[in-house]
Amino acid sequence: MTPGARLQAAAELLDAVWAGAAPPDVLVDDYFRKRRYAGSSDRRAIQERLYAVLRRRARLLWWVERTGIDIGDDSGAPNSRACLIAILATEDRTSPDEISALFSGERHCPAALSTDEAALADGLYGRPLNHHDMPPAVAYEFPAWMEPSLSEMWGDRLIEEIAALNQTAPVDLRVNTLKTTREAAHEALAKGFIETTETPFSPLGLRVEGHPRLGGTETFKRGFVEIQDEGSQLIALLTDARPGMTVVDYCAGAGGKTLALAASMGRGSRISGKLIACDISKTRLDRLRPRLKRAGAHSVKCRVIAARDDNWVSEQAGRADRVLVDAPCTGTGTWRRNPNAKWRFTPTDLDELIEMQRRILEDAAGMVKPGGRLIYASCSLLQQENEQQMAWFLEQFPAFRPLPINDVWTQTVGGAPPPPGPGLRLSPASTGTDGFFCAILEASVSPCKTS
Ligand SMILES: C[S@@+](CC[C@H](N)C(=O)[O-])C[C@H]1O[C@@H](n2cnc3c(N)ncnc32)[C@H](O)[C@@H]1O
Repeated sequence: MTPGARLQAAAELLDAVWAGAAPPDVLVDDYFRKRRYAGSSDRRAIQERLYAVLRRRARLLWWVERTGIDIGDDSGAPNSRACLIAILATEDRTSPDEISALFSGERHCPAALSTDEAALADGLYGRPLNHHDMPPAVAYEFPAWMEPSLSEMWGDRLIEEIAALNQTAPVDLRVNTLKTTREAAHEALAKGFIETTETPFSPLGLRVEGHPRLGGTETFKRGFVEIQDEGSQLIALLTDARPGMTVVDYCAGAGGKTLALAASMGRGSRISGKLIACDISKTRLDRLRPRLKRAGAHSVKCRVIAARDDNWVSEQAGRADRVLVDAPCTGTGTWRRNPNAKWRFTPTDLDELIEMQRRILEDAAGMVKPGGRLIYASCSLLQQENEQQMAWFLEQFPAFRPLPINDVWTQTVGGAPPPPGPGLRLSPASTGTDGFFCAILEASVSPCKTS
């Protein structure tokens, strides 16, 4: 593909991302599946350009607005062409003539620049991407409405934490102990020229060097490894699902953590006990089924449940040793992987999520047996979805008590434990993982709601 054709591909993908069609990685896969003529270097260049714009969106739009040039777009979504012109002119220092040559209007290339777009290229050429007039939310690429909450939590570490959330995430693998060991998986991958190192915290994790295609390797196809961020692996380990237990993964989705729980419950290559993956989304649970098969986790049951007052959930009252609630949330901890997600949520969405998390907690708590545990996790960094939810829960359910996270860590993850406290916080800046929160609540007597 020519440089112009690559630029056009990036513009089309940006339009699709901003239309909210799907997460960027899904859109990229789909785009190239339909364009077999594109080589791996084309894919790499287009993907890099796409993510570069997504990670600089606030700054690029700030510059476009500052020129005062009306690039005319009433859709409400950012103008992809304007953003591409802005990144070329500022960060890449591409001259207006060179930009005009890329936007040639020839076959497969972007349409020729309009007068306003040419003026934009002229106006921005040679400017630095970062500018001291930018407010922090623009300079560090996060929604301004989250600033009070994030500042309160991180204080003078705000910039360090936010900057780390705007970096590219590494690819982590979880070794499936139903089928192999970490050492054997490392060697098998190395034979296929995929180099890995052990993850710092998870005893089951391998961190991949670079971004090789893993889906086609025998190690992956035979279910020896799953792609899973180290943070997710730690949440599954902290759930402390053991052989013989009854374990419910209440918000299982496509089952990343279910697969890890299955491995924890393995006796040799078989699962011992009962593991049930629930979700309100049949589509997501359907995506779990082939993954279970590949992992050799045959006995896991999948159950589609209603969002509220599900009969089957009520029938399970007091039966589970462990109930993991990996709650639907703002996903602020996963901004490294989907930088566009940060712009999707509004304060109203956050309020709705908080309500939804509470309803889920109420239903899930009823399933825990006396002495059993409710594990609450979210990939959000906001206190409203984490510590504040736990404070609410403990008030509503006094029969539960939070277990010291460092003790559970010592028993399940091993190695140096995190600081003592009722909840665990992971983040790209502090642990090199995605951002997560986890609290473990033990039911001392049959849980009952006070109000
Ligand atoms: C953060 S995702 C789960 C990710 C998954 N545990 C994993 O490790 O891949 C949250 C999930 O909660 C599900 N969900 C939303 N409302 C729910 C409810 N009321 N009951 C159960 N699941 C719900 C969503 O469909 C979504 O799949």
